[in-house]
Amino acid sequence: MTSHAIRKPQPRPEILGIDPYVPGKSHVPGLAKVHKLSSNESPLGPSPKAVEAVHALADSLEFYPDGASTALREAIGRRYGLDPSRIICGNGSDELMALLAQVFVHPGEEGLYSQYGFLTYPICIRAAGGIPVVAEETDKTANVDALLGKVNDRTRIVYLANPSNPTGTYLPFSEVKRLHAGLPPHTLMVIDAAYAEYVTRNDYAAGIELASSADNVIMTRTFSKVHGLASLRIGWAYGSAHVLDALNRVRGPFNLNGAAQAAGAASVEDTAHLERAITHNSRWLPWLSEAIAELGIEVTPSVANFLLLTFPKQSGRTAAEADAFLSARGLILRSVAAYGLPDSLRLTVGGEEANKHVVASLAEFMRGKGG
Ligand SMILES: Cc1ncc(COP(=O)(O)O)c(C=O)c1O
Repeated sequence: MTSHAIRKPQPRPEILGIDPYVPGKSHVPGLAKVHKLSSNESPLGPSPKAVEAVHALADSLEFYPDGASTALREAIGRRYGLDPSRIICGNGSDELMALLAQVFVHPGEEGLYSQYGFLTYPICIRAAGGIPVVAEETDKTANVDALLGKVNDRTRIVYLANPSNPTGTYLPFSEVKRLHAGLPPHTLMVIDAAYAEYVTRNDYAAGIELASSADNVIMTRTFSKVHGLASLRIGWAYGSAHVLDALNRVRGPFNLNGAAQAAGAASVEDTAHLERAITHNSRWLPWLSEAIAELGIEVTPSVANFLLLTFPKQSGRTAAEADAFLSARGLILRSVAAYGLPDSLRLTVGGEEANKHVVASLAEFMRGKGG
């Protein structure tokens, strides 16, 4: 067919191989009050100081924001003791993840991630013209040997969510370092630490140390989870000057809107609010894990703000039936069939009322009173 015969603009062929990302549900038709436990959002909401900052911005909406997100990068730098020139902010860490593939994956070369890794990774890799390669997990946990076994000369990027979503499992820092040590220097390792704040294990580290010292490591973080600012889309990453320079050339000139910058800077300084969110999670994560496991539902040990629940295959007790049963009671969980986990649902740690409602409803479901 000549180009004249093609009657519509044609996307690059690899784009049509992408399954669009499907976000967690937020409504149940016919129910006014629901508990949305499908997107790992914070039940405590944002810092009041972040809300104030957004209100204050309403008086100057006609002005472009600072294209370099300077105040936000400086606030993050102060909080974590990092050089702000090695921080880049993104319209959600999603944006940064996509830019990383666009910049570092050469068309036809490979991007690697772990079996149940976050579903945006293959989207980013494909959109950049790369080939997604998956390494099997062990006990729903990333396996460093399996990842290293898939690395070759064509591997340009490795995405590691630590803790991982949707499993909630994590790799100790010693394992993250072992993964890095086995990568060739031209392979960029992206440590996606979206849930880092929630982790209370001594052998965990978000990756700042590696991203400080290695030219081929970048750590991404988000304000969407513990900061309760998902709606504003604020992510950031910390890495080498070399990687940041490339990202800064391709990001949108004003990729973070003014409200996001102001709210993010206010939130990062409100350590008391963050502590409250972490304390809440540390109380309810084990409570939910134990109460749900007692009902005969398999609970994958989690260090994040959500739990992967695996249901029996038996009719009347399946994940799909549990999803419908809970939805009818205003409890929205996340189906994770698209991750290859059709027998599981992901539950975000909610507020006290939601958590108790979930356990009572699951108990009813497992007793078989679902009707
Ligand atoms: C592992 C992981 N990384 C990144 C993100 C996206 O974060 P953001 O809202 O900053 O794009 C999520 C959100 O669900 C996540 O689970």
